[in-house]
Amino acid sequence: MTETPTVGVALVGCGTVGSAVARGLLSDRDLLRGRSGLDLELRHLVDKDFSRARQIGVDKAICRKTLDEALGDADTQIVVELVGGDTFAKQCVEHSLRAGKSVVTANKALLAKHGAELFALARANGVCIAFEGSCLGGVPVIGSLLNGLIANNVEALVGIVNGTCNYILTNMSRHGADYRAVLREAQQTGLAEMDPTLDVSGGDSAHKLAILAALAFGRRVDLETITVEGIESLQVEDIRFGDELGYVVKLLAIASRQGEAISLRVHPAFIRRDHPLARVDGPFNAVCIYGHVVGHTMTYGRGAGGPATASAVVADIVDVALGNAQRRFEHLGVWPDLCEPAKVVPNDDIRSRYYLHVTCADSPDVLAQIAHVLGAHDIGIASVLQHEPLTPGSQAVPLVITTYEAAEGNLTGALKEIDALPVTKRRTFFIRIVDEHPEPQF
Ligand code: HSE
Repeated sequence: MTETPTVGVALVGCGTVGSAVARGLLSDRDLLRGRSGLDLELRHLVDKDFSRARQIGVDKAICRKTLDEALGDADTQIVVELVGGDTFAKQCVEHSLRAGKSVVTANKALLAKHGAELFALARANGVCIAFEGSCLGGVPVIGSLLNGLIANNVEALVGIVNGTCNYILTNMSRHGADYRAVLREAQQTGLAEMDPTLDVSGGDSAHKLAILAALAFGRRVDLETITVEGIESLQVEDIRFGDELGYVVKLLAIASRQGEAISLRVHPAFIRRDHPLARVDGPFNAVCIYGHVVGHTMTYGRGAGGPATASAVVADIVDVALGNAQRRFEHLGVWPDLCEPAKVVPNDDIRSRYYLHVTCADSPDVLAQIAHVLGAHDIGIASVLQHEPLTPGSQAVPLVITTYEAAEGNLTGALKEIDALPVTKRRTFFIRIVDEHPEPQF
């Protein structure tokens, strides 16, 4: 019988994801051997603190304070970077690539900011980087783009890619609770970070969008060109008004083709209740990809957490060990270091439908004045919903308008005028409405 080849692995970082990966490599070693035909041997675990490593039974003899031993070990072919951030993690990836080790990482911030440079370094050293765990945890969306959907010209990619925001929005919608209260509860139950800024500001979603859009469109995406808005200013009353109109609010990451250019944005959006993404609730993630051959696809699952992300990281280790990742890295034409920069649609030219919440005086002619401003900016009204005052006796009423598709620049101009009208009592709040992307015609 032929002997099973062994592939040596060094793991850097034994936190939530790292410890789940170490556990998987150790306790599922036989399962992985059976499935991959390779013996994956954890040979080095690099960290400062080994308390988690001890809990999961990692042999003390492989625990190291620095990466040096792993880099000098000819029997270690793969370095798994799971420290996060983009300072030490970047050095660790660079040293590994220069030492001729392929890298597996789940670090979205690192790849969103420095992907092109790191891919080029990997190429120069004849190795590769695999990063399925960087986007949507255990949901194999990168694998879909690089394998199953490779025959497609992607028209659009629309996703719920941050579990923290989706959990908060789901609970605001279900229980009518306000943003702060739901965030506090999510922090107490460990579903949200104690510092949730990167999540709720849309920054984490933008990192993931930069990575996914680059692969989907075969273009280099500069993180700074993504329009990013978070969920912090969403009010329960808008979620309720949207519900009356048949909409559900989600934080969406969107990359869609507009002619030769790509529109890249992360923002809260209303989607119709019957849209497949509307049923993605709680901490779950999903991405819809629209390809010119396949039409509409959707992948769904747990986008965060140790075990889910470890599932993707271990899959990457297998993929690198089998040589599949290296072959894709050498052959596919989608890598940011090889591609042209994306031509990005300027914000003012992005076209969308809108939900507007105008707070205005409850007197004759108000609706006519507002409709006049919208019409003058070429914005058509799709529906109008006027409510009685939210607080009895108040002179101001919420006027909810949905529009037909218009350029964002036109909307900004119209809102400036509407908010300057004497009848308008508060800054108008708007939420973009994202309709189902049309299936390509065959
Ligand atoms: N904090 C992220 C989320 C997971 O809530 O989805 C890691 O990107």
